[in-house]
Amino acid sequence: MSQEKKQAIIRNAAILCVLFVVTAVTVIFGMMLTLRHFNVFAEYGKIIALTIAVFVLFAVFYVYLNYSSNSRSLESMSNLKLISVAYTAIVIGILLSCATGAYLSWYALPLAFVSLIVGILIRVRVGIMATVIAGMSVMIISPATEQIQDASAVMPIVLGCFIGMLSGFVMAFLIRKRYSRFKLTWGALIVSLAMMPFSALMTILYTFDATTVLYNAIFTAMGNMLAVAVITASLPLYERIFNVWTDFRLQELITLRQPLLRKLNEEAPGTFSHSMAVANLAESCAVAIGINPYMARVCGYFHDIGKIKNPQFFIENQKDGYNPHDELIPEVSVSMITRHTTAGYEMLREVHMPEEICKAALEHHGDSPVSYFYMKVKSITEGDVDNKEFCYEGPCPTTKYSAIIMICDICEAMFRAKPPEDIQSLEKAVDGVIKSRLTEGQLDDCGLTMHDLKLIKQTICRAIPASMHKRIDYDKAKERR
Ligand SMILES: [Fe+2]
Ligand SMILES: [Fe+2]
Repeated sequence: MSQEKKQAIIRNAAILCVLFVVTAVTVIFGMMLTLRHFNVFAEYGKIIALTIAVFVLFAVFYVYLNYSSNSRSLESMSNLKLISVAYTAIVIGILLSCATGAYLSWYALPLAFVSLIVGILIRVRVGIMATVIAGMSVMIISPATEQIQDASAVMPIVLGCFIGMLSGFVMAFLIRKRYSRFKLTWGALIVSLAMMPFSALMTILYTFDATTVLYNAIFTAMGNMLAVAVITASLPLYERIFNVWTDFRLQELITLRQPLLRKLNEEAPGTFSHSMAVANLAESCAVAIGINPYMARVCGYFHDIGKIKNPQFFIENQKDGYNPHDELIPEVSVSMITRHTTAGYEMLREVHMPEEICKAALEHHGDSPVSYFYMKVKSITEGDVDNKEFCYEGPCPTTKYSAIIMICDICEAMFRAKPPEDIQSLEKAVDGVIKSRLTEGQLDDCGLTMHDLKLIKQTICRAIPASMHKRIDYDKAKERR
């Protein structure tokens, strides 16, 4: 057996042991919440039996989580973080449901909390699976602890869990990964209203008492609203504790309250304006190829953040015709320019920015040469000039975000310097940028397909004319009047 396999077995066994302890604690607390007079020592037989039953569910989920973590969409999240986020949500969901069931109603179970929090932080499909595990665990723990005299008393618990899980599935699908606070609140309200008649129908299965039917329908709506309230309160904590970058948190990075961005605006206004334009283009491209547009936008905002170390060395920030490169030899100029990628990467790592954003700052020029200075030296030197001395350090883009920023960065700078004359010249230029990067091998490791590149080209060709539209010259208009 290879060393790697041995380590994997030890790691899995250790995680399962921890999960067993977590299961036992959850079962004990679940019983404490549902049993009026609970005594750990008197109930130890039941505790062991329930722990084993719930642990089987937890272990099945662990296998599923391991399988899911291999998929490309979850690559950015470490396995341990994935497990911690999912299981804390399940445990909180179980305990909240036990408490709500025991003290309010079994129809008011906030199981939607699990599907939404895991759906938002990890993935909708994982959220749905987590809700099934949490719902089934509540079904196992609660009937076994209630003072149940006959089988009919189990009915409301089972139906309540079923309705709670169903609400969770519908809300997770309604909200998906692209959510907003508006969607969250209104989604909960709509799902609650839609689930009320369903809940009433379920109650009719075992009683025709009109008051019970009405109350259960109202409790179902209350459970969903409670789930959203708990999510709203706990999401910022989840984001900070597990360092997960949700859309809410990414949006906080693109305001001028963010110190680095404010500094860029104050000290390098030209770069700031260029970054805004790149961010707009990158966001549109991300939408076109189906990756996170918020992440693409933030990558655009921060890709040139390293320029604040020496803003005057970049043409967009130079004022009054003064250019410090006139006083330097080309080799020094190149090193002043190329270091903005590594400087940006270090600055962003220091403030714990998401990995994708740090990489976009480091990789957005790949290992391409600073053509202007290379050509300048070539024109004044006899013989060969080593191209490598005029290149960025790299690496080439390793994420789709870095590659999008690379393409949008060149296009934005190129069309700002010389706006395209017509749509044909625009298409030709964008095509040329993408083809040259492909031939240089800059896009080899980024994961973009040829179809993605086609969509990116179409998006840029659509967005550039819109961003360079003409405005009315009001002074001339006044003169004509
Ligand atoms: Fe740059
Ligand atoms: Fe740039």
